[in-house]
Amino acid sequence: MTAVSIIVPTYNEAKNLAALYAGVAGALRDISWEIVFVDDNSPDGTADIARDLARQHDNVRCIQRIQERGLCSAVQWGVQAAHGDVVVVMDGDLQHDPGLIPRMMEELGKGQDIVSGSRFLSGSRAGGLPSELRNSLSVYGNKLINLYLGIRLTDPLTGFFATTRALFLRSIPRMQADGFKVFFDLIYYNRKAAIKELPLDFRARQHGSSKLELYVIWLLLCDMISKLSRGLAPPRLVSFVGVGLIGSSVHFSVLYTSLSAGAVFWVSQAIATVMAMIFNFTLNNILTYTDHRLVGATFYKGLLLYSFIASFGIVANVSTAQLTYELFQFHTFLAACMGILIDIVWRFVISNRLIWGNSSIFKKAA
Ligand code: GDD
Ligand code: MN
Repeated sequence: MTAVSIIVPTYNEAKNLAALYAGVAGALRDISWEIVFVDDNSPDGTADIARDLARQHDNVRCIQRIQERGLCSAVQWGVQAAHGDVVVVMDGDLQHDPGLIPRMMEELGKGQDIVSGSRFLSGSRAGGLPSELRNSLSVYGNKLINLYLGIRLTDPLTGFFATTRALFLRSIPRMQADGFKVFFDLIYYNRKAAIKELPLDFRARQHGSSKLELYVIWLLLCDMISKLSRGLAPPRLVSFVGVGLIGSSVHFSVLYTSLSAGAVFWVSQAIATVMAMIFNFTLNNILTYTDHRLVGATFYKGLLLYSFIASFGIVANVSTAQLTYELFQFHTFLAACMGILIDIVWRFVISNRLIWGNSSIFKKAA
């Protein structure tokens, strides 16, 4: 019977799998375990390598996902496929020392609900953090997250942790499928659970590249705001609105710049509208839809469709604004804000279906 399932989300980790397997095998000599790779159809053939490994060892399994993308949902799929009563989630890039797994199991045996490997506990080494900037981002990010969670953790964003399959399965219906921060998401819904951190020797990546970039911080912020709204506003909508707000400031700076350059109002307004639209589309493509990013020719097709959708939004915008204006005693600012809000929500609902995501009309073409 399998006692522990090691869940490893992978994207372009072909070169790391064999060493990872050997490392885990070396660490888990006395217990029965399996390793479940959840690969998002990596172009480097990670899934083939995983199946090669499975031919040699019968405790290797591979889920190759064709349609789905994203770290959080990959981990969730792995847990749902797991046979073990305990699940361990770890990176597939050899940054996490499998030597810690027996200690994690021990702590779970002693009654802890969740045990994680922390990069910032005394005794930890975070040699694998790529830069000074990322280091300080982590420090301040962690402070903010602890404040938000109301618990003290030295590393709420770690990617290496163990818990019971039952606890994880219970949490899945409320967890985010989009996103990067599985552990943060899990503990958010299990704040009352017994959580223990163990010092981790976080190693540098040897092959391949990290998928965690600055936009991850943005997504995390959106996720936090979404959770505050009790899920009323999904993280993508929060991100979309955030981008829309930044876009409005672009709109106004362009508007006033071209006005002061002598252009008449309607020309300035038209230039500002087009600039803001391109800006919004580009930023949404990078930040809001990182995992469904349109590139090359589809980027321009997407932009065209987006502009088309947005032009209907302008009608909704103006009518809502007018209605609000009449309803609330000709309050201009409030009316303008209501108009912009309706516009953004409209654009979100339509482009979330047609441009980006699983039902995108560009998906088959890409
Ligand atoms: N299936 C799947 N789909 N796997 C993915 C995806 C995806 O979209 N994106 C990343 N992965 C896999 C990687 O192949 C790797 O095994 C693991 O998930 C973590 O990704 P990395 O790209 O190595 O992330 P990192 O090392 O920069 O980030 C680490 O620190 C973060 C906290 O700052 C990870 O431990 C994260 O889990 C952690 O949140
Ligand atoms: Mn990593």
